[in-house]
Amino acid sequence: MRLAHVTDLHFGAEEPEVVAGLRADLAAQRADRLLVSGDLTMRARDEQFRAAVDLLNATGTPWTCVPGNHDLPLDRPARAFGPLDAYRRLVDSDPEPLVRDGGLLLLGLSSARPYLWKGGRIDGEQLARIGEAMAEQADLKVLMLHHPVFRSAQRPNEALVHGAGPALRASAEAGVDVIVCGHDHVAAQARLGRMVGLMSGTACSWRVRAGESQSYTVLDHDGDRLRLTVRAWHDGAFRETHTTDWYRTPDGWHT
Ligand SMILES: [Fe+2]
Ligand SMILES: [Fe+2]
Repeated sequence: MRLAHVTDLHFGAEEPEVVAGLRADLAAQRADRLLVSGDLTMRARDEQFRAAVDLLNATGTPWTCVPGNHDLPLDRPARAFGPLDAYRRLVDSDPEPLVRDGGLLLLGLSSARPYLWKGGRIDGEQLARIGEAMAEQADLKVLMLHHPVFRSAQRPNEALVHGAGPALRASAEAGVDVIVCGHDHVAAQARLGRMVGLMSGTACSWRVRAGESQSYTVLDHDGDRLRLTVRAWHDGAFRETHTTDWYRTPDGWHT
């Protein structure tokens, strides 16, 4: 099974050349599914959501998405009374999708909150959902949210999602294999107890951080092996820059 983790597209702050390169490279990778962890837009405007959805559809690959903090409107009434209205209307009516596809079990959680400007939260109801949804058997169990549950080496002072600790415990108990997140705009991986933590850079915006270029990550899963390949924008194309092999053992995943 091949998945690709694509995050922080930020339409409204996109680089057209990188968008075109991303579309071509994702199509060429022929993944079984794209995992899109939010910040599709800069300002939650209709045309920005439409551009993001057009790009994802143009890859010819099924995709699953959760909202990020930038996918909530800034306008106060809209933010207070229907923060996910545009997202539900233009992207997915369910901002917390549960996908069972062959050996994959994928749960997305919405961590953006109208009362938090930039940060995110996983609440008690969502912790319960992790336990319920991820209880069934699967070859690979993936939890996806926008805000990070671990810190990258490149941006060690960034805040974690509120509730990161309980979310990690609930995920480990439910047998989650991989947690994917975005928000920090850098490519990073971490061993989170028994699990793999994966973060990718901004896929196609100019909001790059820590001297990195735009990136996304390909996940090749086969039994107890998971190969993570970072593909980053260099010299006019996405190119393979890092490959990390993870192995599943009786005490969890390790490199
Ligand atoms: Fe972002
Ligand atoms: Fe974000």
